[in-house]
Amino acid sequence: MLGGDVTDELVGRDHEVYALARANLDITDPADVEDALREIRPDVVVNCAAWTDVDGAEANERAAMAVNDTGAGLLARAARDRGASIVQISSDYVFDGAKRTPYVESDMPNALSAYGRSKQAGETSVAVANPRHWIVRTSWLYGVRGGNFVETMLRLASEQPEVLVVSDQVGSPTYTRHLATAIADLIEGRLPYGIYHLAAAGSCSWYEFAQEIFDLTDTECRVMAATTEMLGRPAPRPAYSVLGTEHDDAPVLPDWREGLRAYLAERARVMA
Ligand SMILES: NC(=O)c1ccc[n+]([C@@H]2O[C@H](COP(=O)([O-])OP(=O)(O)OC[C@H]3O[C@@H](n4cnc5c(N)ncnc54)[C@H](OP(=O)(O)O)[C@@H]3O)[C@@H](O)[C@H]2O)c1
Repeated sequence: MLGGDVTDELVGRDHEVYALARANLDITDPADVEDALREIRPDVVVNCAAWTDVDGAEANERAAMAVNDTGAGLLARAARDRGASIVQISSDYVFDGAKRTPYVESDMPNALSAYGRSKQAGETSVAVANPRHWIVRTSWLYGVRGGNFVETMLRLASEQPEVLVVSDQVGSPTYTRHLATAIADLIEGRLPYGIYHLAAAGSCSWYEFAQEIFDLTDTECRVMAATTEMLGRPAPRPAYSVLGTEHDDAPVLPDWREGLRAYLAERARVMA
């Protein structure tokens, strides 16, 4: 989902981009990684590959670690060996959600879930392997290339008169095209290496996000508030994972409502 939009953004800015799917490059395979980096000799590697099944990771932590930690580390090291930088995409789920003000880059991660632990481990592996790293933490992504929360809500609304959505998890839903623009700005601006929080401005609960989706699409569907406990998902999730930044010069993303409007407009164009 994000990889496609990053590719579009960088191609649109006249960069030479090699967009590799898993079939072309398995990041857990050291030989694959070496071959790809030797052939392409990139200036920058943007790692959008990941195990992203948050609930599935609970029963498959080792497999999630293989991609999100080991694979990320392999890419970072191979990039370092060729003097290339790496952008590693990480997650708000590295935090435990105990705060009630936005998490900044220097806040201590303390992941609650197997997925979160694998992303947290990946950050460290990348940072250790390659000093030329930008670690980008983002949150609650949706874009036209992926199954996502917006699509799930619209599908459910077409099948039933009401939906049950959690109101006790607060974060920042982020449109992947807005994030891709920020990532390209980070690279082109040659901002200092380090950790960056890049997510939509503002925040909401999943309940409020669902309500806004139905309001903007004139969808008749009642949103009922649920607690995380009621839904009983396998992976624990932070109650609060809004991301703020300590960098004065970090790219700033539009508000989440603006992201949703832009997404719905793109979706309408794609479906037309
Ligand atoms: N989605 C969110 O809400 C969210 C929130 C915060 C952070 N993030 C992070 O943002 C990044 C992009 O997420 P996304 O939502 O765009 O993910 P996505 O749509 O699930 O895409 C992940 C991609 O990684 C590929 N992949 C998995 N294992 C691989 C391997 N061993 N080698 C090469 N490719 C592999 C997948 O290929 P297959 O399709 O073949 O499996 C898929 O194309 C990830 O780092 C994710 O952790 C996501």
